[in-house]
Amino acid sequence: MNHSIGYKREEPAEQPPYLHPEYRSTALRAPERPLVPLPHTLSEITGPVYGHEKVGPLDHDLTRQHDGEPLGERIIVFGRVMDTDGRPLPDALMEIWQANSAGRYRHEIDNHPAPLDPNFSGGGRCVTDAEGRYRFVSIKPAAYPWGNDANAWRPAHIHFSLFGAAFATRLITQMYFPGDPLLAVDPIFNSIPDAAARERLVCRLDLDHTEPEWALAYEFDIVLRGRNATPLEG
Ligand SMILES: [Fe+2]
Repeated sequence: MNHSIGYKREEPAEQPPYLHPEYRSTALRAPERPLVPLPHTLSEITGPVYGHEKVGPLDHDLTRQHDGEPLGERIIVFGRVMDTDGRPLPDALMEIWQANSAGRYRHEIDNHPAPLDPNFSGGGRCVTDAEGRYRFVSIKPAAYPWGNDANAWRPAHIHFSLFGAAFATRLITQMYFPGDPLLAVDPIFNSIPDAAARERLVCRLDLDHTEPEWALAYEFDIVLRGRNATPLEG
């Protein structure tokens, strides 16, 4: 592959703006002046590269990290990671983190008065296979209040972090569940201007991939940015 070709820039309407007043804390961190696009250099285009050896065989299963099973509704979250040209991305490092089935994170600054689960840490990771596929096993997270206003509760969500083949393909996003009534009133979800782009953050119930009488399955495909030009030769 020709590594001298930079990556595509993001489409503004498909990404949330830095400043979205309804999402109050963006006012504290949004840049006040326009961004200065920098050319992609070798460090953004070629690094980092991860191997398989640091991801353990059970790292993708958040229900098997402790002696007992976590409380909650078991779920399978699976899908494919592709680039904007539709090509599968193998060896992408994926990390997820989420609240437990009561809406509580195992984190020192989460003081929401909901119970912690001694059998649930809420973090997992995996690497995509040769076809760009991934699969996590977890429990469905619950909504939690977040202080944006008196009735602000985040819709149930799972945080995703991805590293593709390069720093330029880093993506941090959130996956939501279909039919959640909180989606319509969530300033973070609705900070993405384009309605079709918002819907791409909602997973799909897939009864063909359930494990009957054990876990429901949700499909969530992820697209990382592709190259500006398609190399003619591999
Ligand atoms: Fe969250």
